[in-house]
Amino acid sequence: MTLTDFIADAEARLENLLHQYLLDDSFPAPGLQKAAAYATLKGGKRTRPLLVYLTGQLFHAPFEEMDAAACAIELIHVYSLIHDDLPAMDNADFRRGKPSCHQAFNEAIAILAGDALQPMAFDIIARHPSGLTAKQRLDMIKVLSEASGMRGMAAGQTMDMEGVSSPDELIQMYRLKTGALLNASVRLGALSAGVSDSATLDALYLFSENIGLAFQIQDDLLDIEKTADQTGKPQGIDQTNGKITWPALQGITASRKKIETLFNTAIQSLDLVAEKNNLLSQFATRLMQRNK
Ligand code: IPE
Ligand code: IPE
Ligand code: MG
Ligand code: MG
Ligand code: MG
Repeated sequence: MTLTDFIADAEARLENLLHQYLLDDSFPAPGLQKAAAYATLKGGKRTRPLLVYLTGQLFHAPFEEMDAAACAIELIHVYSLIHDDLPAMDNADFRRGKPSCHQAFNEAIAILAGDALQPMAFDIIARHPSGLTAKQRLDMIKVLSEASGMRGMAAGQTMDMEGVSSPDELIQMYRLKTGALLNASVRLGALSAGVSDSATLDALYLFSENIGLAFQIQDDLLDIEKTADQTGKPQGIDQTNGKITWPALQGITASRKKIETLFNTAIQSLDLVAEKNNLLSQFATRLMQRNK
């Protein structure tokens, strides 16, 4: 199967599931449901769920056993984006090519939509019908909760808001705010396939850790170089907000070089995995070239 075909299948499954979970007219607060569905259902590159599916398939996990994690990580990510755009955080009016959630609804509803998407993610892991064992589900919940909270994304977002003062702190902030959920995506894919070999998990960690850093430096570069039409987000908002970023600290050329080195290290780390299937590494190459 080609990468393009695999991605088309995975995206179709994911959209189907997200619709199933979000377009539910039995929810008691339709305004909340509409805002959560608005933020989740259109646009978005679906990078994290694709990493779940591509990692799982490397170890022959059936699609049915990857669905819950794919859906859950996207919901956590969307919640983080809704809150990230709020006036108290980045104050961004556009996201995924349309008004951000608080613009389309209001701030209170946007905060609550994020609040509701977060537990929905864990609920789906706990109960989505599949052959996953109770132990696999519990391990997934541990991975996702650690990656999202005090030791993960929320901690990184805090460092971002408070400001960093050295390249080392900046890297630590990237690791947490962006890397944690990308690491979790790969780990969740491995868990759905029941991978427990520690050398394999270490190699996968090296892969996703490098991708996580590269992904955020790319995001910071796109913020400078691409228009809102191209990215679906306001251009230059990092500078507007006085954010310290890798391109701001080290320059554009050094940032491009850094991204390339990080991706090459990521791709090479897959050589340490016994299973040989190049879709995951092809996907990393595709990510390396992303322009949105
Ligand atoms: C944006 O993530 C926020 C970061 C952590 C860089 P994405 O670039 O994956 O955004 P979507 O999901 O495609 O909209
Ligand atoms: C990542 O950083 C944000 C999250 C972890 C949600 P940014 O604030 O740069 O992400 P964008 O550019 O708004 O998507
Ligand atoms: Mg931000
Ligand atoms: Mg932002
Ligand atoms: Mg950004």
